[in-house]
Amino acid sequence: MEKNRGRDPPIYFMRSKIQQLIPWMHPYKIGVGPTMIFDKPRNKFYWELLKQCKDKVCVEVGFGTGILTLMALHHGAKHIYAYEKDPSIFELGKYIIEELGFSDRVTFVNENYKSKDHRYLDIELIFHEIIGRNIWKEDISNTFRGATTKIVPNVLACNIRLFKGSVGRKPTLDLPRYSTGCEWLDKTYLEVLKDLWKEKDTITYDGISYPNSRLIGSYKVSINNWIPQTIEVDIEVENGIVFPEYYIDDFKLAEGHWVVDKSIKVNKKYTKFIQNTTDGNWWLE
Ligand SMILES: C[S@@+](CC[C@H](N)C(=O)[O-])C[C@H]1O[C@@H](n2cnc3c(N)ncnc32)[C@H](O)[C@@H]1O
Repeated sequence: MEKNRGRDPPIYFMRSKIQQLIPWMHPYKIGVGPTMIFDKPRNKFYWELLKQCKDKVCVEVGFGTGILTLMALHHGAKHIYAYEKDPSIFELGKYIIEELGFSDRVTFVNENYKSKDHRYLDIELIFHEIIGRNIWKEDISNTFRGATTKIVPNVLACNIRLFKGSVGRKPTLDLPRYSTGCEWLDKTYLEVLKDLWKEKDTITYDGISYPNSRLIGSYKVSINNWIPQTIEVDIEVENGIVFPEYYIDDFKLAEGHWVVDKSIKVNKKYTKFIQNTTDGNWWLE
């Protein structure tokens, strides 16, 4: 088994970061950021999902500091090709997995993984958590374009919802938390926000989901299939607040560390919800 003791990771902060993490270093509690690492619903979801790695040669796309690779190894994965495109995160994750003594079943690859480039490997399962604030944020559709191997999680779904009630909160700039440090700029931004609020159609709140909302449309996509550049869903809205809810397989994203996506205040008739599958941006037409 390859060990890395005595060889320092190249960037100093990694050492201090690992030292900070050591009290928590039960093998399955490490990842990139604390909110993600300690996101219990997410970790439990992946814990169950990755049981299917047993006896399989797998790829992890974006291993971060390795939490999912460690879960898969614990569940008996035969070998893992662990990809991480970010050089610093790559070194950190590799160092952690090596230090924990698991690296004999891991090949570390510091590259941007794309399914179309990696068909030659004898891979039986691909797993990932390249999901941002919406299911498409980390360019998942291009990453897995042309994949012939099973990918988990696999089904990306969105429920489009409409909230009809009144919203208690107006958009404000939370000063001094979001102060630019320049009083004139702060005041100017506040003016812009007030003007935006008067517009007919306004991007309203980030990070809030609404109770008692009504389902007005939905889609489901398997990432093993061909994914269009934009997804169009027929809806009917005239007023209220439209917002999406995302699922990977049956796991609701907002239940974990993922923040809720934007919502759009609507004052006229729209019949289509359209989402770009490169960055997840969406709009109504
Ligand atoms: C949301 S983090 C997840 C990290 C880790 N798997 C976890 O669950 O804690 C996604 C990571 O994937 C990496 N990433 C995204 N797309 C990638 C790709 N196509 N190839 C390699 N790494 C990728 C990012 O740099 C980031 O570190």
